[in-house]
Amino acid sequence: MAKTAPPPGTGDIFPEEAASWLQLEQTARRVFQLYGYGEIRTPIFEFTEVFRHGLGDETEVVQKEMYTFEDRGGRSLTLRPEGTAGVMRALSGTDAMNGVENRVFYMGPMFRGERPAAGRRRQFHQVGVENAGRVSPGLDAECIAMLLHFLEECGITGTSLMINTRGVPEDRKDAEAALREHFAPHAAEMCEDCRVRLERNVWRILDCKQECCQKWIDAAPDAASLFGQDSRDYFRRVCDILADQNIPFRVEPRLVRGLDYYVHTVFELTHPGLGAQNAIAGGGRYRLLTPGSNRPIEGVGFAAGMERLLIARESLGVPAPAPERPKVFLLSLGEKALAFNAKLASELRHGGVSAFLEYEAKSMKSQMRTADRIRAQYVYILGESELESGLGQLKNMATGEQKPVAPGDLSAALR
Ligand code: HAM
Repeated sequence: MAKTAPPPGTGDIFPEEAASWLQLEQTARRVFQLYGYGEIRTPIFEFTEVFRHGLGDETEVVQKEMYTFEDRGGRSLTLRPEGTAGVMRALSGTDAMNGVENRVFYMGPMFRGERPAAGRRRQFHQVGVENAGRVSPGLDAECIAMLLHFLEECGITGTSLMINTRGVPEDRKDAEAALREHFAPHAAEMCEDCRVRLERNVWRILDCKQECCQKWIDAAPDAASLFGQDSRDYFRRVCDILADQNIPFRVEPRLVRGLDYYVHTVFELTHPGLGAQNAIAGGGRYRLLTPGSNRPIEGVGFAAGMERLLIARESLGVPAPAPERPKVFLLSLGEKALAFNAKLASELRHGGVSAFLEYEAKSMKSQMRTADRIRAQYVYILGESELESGLGQLKNMATGEQKPVAPGDLSAALR
């Protein structure tokens, strides 16, 4: 059957798949709550400044990927490309600004106008957490540990954790100068994007995947070694805590992450089942400016791509949860039986038993086919003679076994 496709980079989630999504969401809620996080739901669109101030004007997301439009009053709005900036906008009026810890998690759709590919969508879904208000290497390490705990509970094994430090803005001047000095003489041999990055955001060169740039990236100076002592001590503490908790990780000096709000710890988790788009989750510590405030809000958090969690899980052969099957199909033979079954279905449902029936007169065979298609566990057959005798026939679809049951006893017989 011809299907009308949704816009490129988006997709429909049908009931058969919804069970897997629900399971991820329930796992997230259960695990995050163990760490004291509560759910926050923020708007799917925000004033554009929230993202421009928050993520940074020079980031790829802000420059190229945002879905921005004007409302009727001429205000610029943007579909959220990520969750952190909107959550911080929401928390900016709270005590998180005054050093009180706020632990929140969220899940839902995000929008980025990227070129669609396997595991890369224009509407995708994230599950994320933010711990705002406090600064401590212990919180950064706990956040990473919680992400790993969540993945473990999702049945996702075989991930690799990379971490790095971005220092603080005051640290970066010397490192930036050293990187520029290193890359500038080779600009002509580097990709077009990197030539622009050299002027506007030299750090992003470290992240470049183009073949022609790799030689120069490999030879780049270790930026973190040029950061101040406090920043280096902070990062060492994070690494020590992770090591102490036997969490395997690799320090990756090239890991800069694409958003400008990060300070100190950044991390990314990859999975071999994902192919080219192999980042399953990413995060770090940040200082984020919300519009109308000149003081940044500080926090640490991560987000995992839900589509990618599902792909990783499938690549490991973890079975998808089966969707709920209706308990009983009420098969009616004749108008009286149908009227009776309509009332019976209502009683069963109010008693917590899922029931299904066909509202048009259909043959026994056709109704049995429907019962099969919806994978009903039982069929309850009611015709004129059963109504008279007060006993319908209950058929167990798995065993084929059939027995007489009075309508009033059906609910108990189905338990
Ligand atoms: P991010 O690395 O941009 O970080 O995204 C987090 C995750 O979202 C990625 O690792 C990936 O799994 C998924 N993702 C991103 N873009 C796409 C896409 N186009 N299609 C499918 N999945 C995608 C953030 O968004 C930060 N807000 C994370 C964070 C929270 N940092 C601190 N707190």
